[in-house]
Amino acid sequence: MLAIGSDHGGFELKEQIKAWLDEQHIEYKDFGIYENVSTDYALIGKKVGYAVAKGECEKGILICGTGIGISMAANKVNGVRAACCSDYFSAKYTRLHNDANILCMGGRVVGPGTAIELVDVFLHTAFEGGRHQRRIDQLTEIENEQKK
Ligand code: RB5
Repeated sequence: MLAIGSDHGGFELKEQIKAWLDEQHIEYKDFGIYENVSTDYALIGKKVGYAVAKGECEKGILICGTGIGISMAANKVNGVRAACCSDYFSAKYTRLHNDANILCMGGRVVGPGTAIELVDVFLHTAFEGGRHQRRIDQLTEIENEQKK
């Protein structure tokens, strides 16, 4: 299951991505917003972040105006590796090398055509593992150090 969410800056793009996911028969859970009203991105970033971190959803898509605020919010949740991307190479390599579990985009940055290409490669690229696993473990260690 894929989690998806946006604030008002990403609402229109979220709806366009949902239409594509429907066409692809990819299941998702929409964490809002459900109508285009001004909303604080941290609230949605947190909801999708927890859904992914707790394993309720395998991956997530988050969209705000720039993709930045909502990625900052999601990355506050332990276990989240959210990557804000606007180009194909980054969306691909954040899966290969960072094992990113949330893709963030800016609804005021990328158009629907680019966004769908980013989502497609993000969903269909596997983590490479190997030397990259050590680096992911180091990210987790930063989280663990702060729990002590
Ligand atoms: C909302 O106007 C905007 O600030 C928000 O969508 C996002 O771009 C923040 O990073």
